[in-house]
Amino acid sequence: MSSFKDLRIVDNFYQTSAFFPMPTVLISTLADDGSTSLGAYSLCFPYYIAGKDYYAMLLECRNSSNTAQNLLKRGVCAINFLEDNKGDFGETVRLGFPGETSAEKMAGCKFELEAGQCEGARPLIISKAFQVMECTWDDTLENAYQDCSRVGQLDGIEPPYRSFNGITSKFGCHFILKIDKILMKERFYDAIVNGVRASLFPRVPVDYGYRDSTNFWYTKFRRPIAMKIPAAREADLTGVIFAADRMDDKIKFTEDACRMMTKVPRVFLKTALQGCVDWARENNVTLITPEHMKIINDKRSKEKNK
Ligand SMILES: Cc1cc2nc3c(=O)[nH]c(=O)nc-3n(C[C@H](O)[C@H](O)[C@H](O)COP(=O)(O)O)c2cc1C
Repeated sequence: MSSFKDLRIVDNFYQTSAFFPMPTVLISTLADDGSTSLGAYSLCFPYYIAGKDYYAMLLECRNSSNTAQNLLKRGVCAINFLEDNKGDFGETVRLGFPGETSAEKMAGCKFELEAGQCEGARPLIISKAFQVMECTWDDTLENAYQDCSRVGQLDGIEPPYRSFNGITSKFGCHFILKIDKILMKERFYDAIVNGVRASLFPRVPVDYGYRDSTNFWYTKFRRPIAMKIPAAREADLTGVIFAADRMDDKIKFTEDACRMMTKVPRVFLKTALQGCVDWARENNVTLITPEHMKIINDKRSKEKNK
């Protein structure tokens, strides 16, 4: 017998059929008159995180929202992340109330705004945000630029629909947002560059969405806890030598260079060795020694810090 009950899956399952922890962001977009409009969003997650030409976020939203309409028309936005503060969260929930025009909701907006750092016509960003991602919608994926001509249909859009970018259902829209810049307040910038401690995390709330028609639920920030990662089991030196020997017919590794790779988890070993071989080829090195490995490691950590 299962220890679980099988729950019916209904629309908006993440908040109607589950407890799904989510971020809270305010998305700035450019309204028709060039002013900045703010909308509250939780379904906003990293999408392309590595191995592509650019990094991207995914936003899922109602296609009649000001945010969706502005993105379809002008394709630029900024994702503002605020720290935990009950007053600010109340204002965020107000900015999440559907049906108001940008002008109506922004008339009483309590957040101070300032310019971001991207060139061209861009929405303003929230001054007290701890981090902001300035983004451009990639409307080339799935030919979603064709949906730009379907703006203004606020009572539901008829088919056809796209799978993952642009207008995806009668009331839905998905946007793959290329990240142009990540702007960070100095305190948190320093924590990322110099190493984070529990006291240096931004106080980020977690929300659980609307649970009924009366309340929106969220939890206050709690001090983060550092959980030790299991110590990587050292790969057997002979295993590393075996793999290193087979990487390239001309470029080889000394045994001491291989010894420096025994801490690399096995799943990443081939990629790490390939990185060394690529460096050796660029630098006309045919036998990789511990000195070369040091240069490669320094180069890697410099690139990481950049
Ligand atoms: C904290 C919070 C998170 C929300 N997340 C989403 C979301 O991810 N997607 C969505 O379509 N609506 C979401 N909503 C509802 C929108 O904020 C609402 O549709 C609002 O009208 C959007 O503003 P806009 O029309 O100015 O874009 C959320 C509301 C709140 C308060």
